[in-house]
Amino acid sequence: MKPIQFRANITGTGKYLPEKVLSNQDIEKLVDTSDEWIQTRTGIRERRIVKNGQATAEMSTNAIIQLLEKRDISAEEIDAIIVATITPDMMFPSTAAIIQSNIKAKNAWGYDLSSACSGFLFGMQSGAALISSGQCKKVIVVGADTMSSILNFEDRNTCILFGDGAGAVLLEPSEEYGVIDSELRVDGSGGEYLKMDAGGSRLPASHHTVDNKQHFVYQDGKSVFKHAVKGMADISYQVASRNNLMGSDIDLFIPHQANKRIIDAAAKKLGLSDSQVMINIDRFANTTAATLPICLAEADEENMLSLGDNVILSAFGAGFSWGAMYIKWGLPAYA
Ligand code: ACO
Repeated sequence: MKPIQFRANITGTGKYLPEKVLSNQDIEKLVDTSDEWIQTRTGIRERRIVKNGQATAEMSTNAIIQLLEKRDISAEEIDAIIVATITPDMMFPSTAAIIQSNIKAKNAWGYDLSSACSGFLFGMQSGAALISSGQCKKVIVVGADTMSSILNFEDRNTCILFGDGAGAVLLEPSEEYGVIDSELRVDGSGGEYLKMDAGGSRLPASHHTVDNKQHFVYQDGKSVFKHAVKGMADISYQVASRNNLMGSDIDLFIPHQANKRIIDAAAKKLGLSDSQVMINIDRFANTTAATLPICLAEADEENMLSLGDNVILSAFGAGFSWGAMYIKWGLPAYA
C-alpha cells in the first residue's frame, strides 16, 4: 500500500497590529512628501507603529494567542515555532525562543528565518516539510516585523513604505487540504538594492555606523520595483499555470503588499478581477514578513475563503528573494 503523503494544512490564523496609526498626513510633518504622492505611487494611506518598548516577539505572541484561542488549543500541543523576521528582538537568542517562553509552549522547538518580504513563504515551506515528513503534528509559522525600528524617518524614499505587525498560522497534516505546490527563489546579486548595511558581523555597531545612518533600511526603489513587478508576476503565473489554475479558478490571490502597482501587474498577468485580489496595503503598508499571514488572518476572519478554495500566495523582497505558493484552503468559514 502506498504511504499517505500528508499535506500541511492551515488550520488556524491570528494577527496583531499595533494600535498606533501613522497616517500619510502624519508623515507629511516628518519629510517632504504628500498624501497624494504616497497614495498614487504606492496605494498606502496609513500604517501601524509599535509603542515604545514593543517589539517583534510581543507582537508575535499576541498573534499566536489569538490563533490558539480561536482554535481552542493549548500552547503545549505545539511542536515547532518558525519565525520569519528581519527585525528580531535581538541578534540572539532567537525570537522563536522568546515567543516559546511567552506562550509556554513547553514541548516546542523553533528558530528564526531571515528572508525579508519572502520570509513567511520560506517559513511556510519549512513548516510544510516538517508536517509532510511526519516529524511534527502542529507547527506555527509566524511572520512579524517591527520595521519602524530600522526606518529613517528623515528619508522619504523609505519611511513612507513600511508598517509594523505580526501574523501567524497553524499547520497540521491533512490528506486533502493545504500546501499543494510552490516555487521559491533567491538571487543574491540583487542584495545591493535593498539592505541594512550595519549591525551584522561585517559592520558591527560603532559610532561611525550610527553617524552614517547605516542601521536603517536602504532601498534603490526604482531597481527593486522593476525586479519586483516581473518577479512576482512571473512566479505567480508559473505556479498557477502548472496547476491548471487560471483566471476564475483562483478564488483568492494574496500578494505581498509592497506597492499596489506591483500587485496590479501580477493580478493582470493572472487574469484576475479586483474581487479576487487581497488588498490591505492601504491600511497597513508593507509589514515585510508579516504581510502574508496578516492577509491570511484577515481573509479568514472576514469569511473571504471557503473550504477547498484555491489560494495563491506570492511575495518579492530583499535578497532578492521571491516565490509563490498554491494552497487548497482547509479551514471552514466561520458560522
Ligand atoms: N514623496 C514625494 N516624492 C518622493 C517620495 C516621497 N515619499 N519618494 C521619492 N520621491 C520622488 C523621488 O525623489 C523622485 O524625484 P525626482 O524625479 O525628482 O528624482 C520621484 O519621486 C520619483 O521617484 P521614484 O523612485 O522613481 O518613484 P517610484 O514611482 O519608483 O516609487 C517606490 C518609489 C514607491 C519606492 C517604488 O519604487 C517601489 O515601490 N519600489 C519597490 C518596493 C518593493 O517592492 N520592495 C520590496 C519589498 S520590501 C523588503 O523586502 C524589506
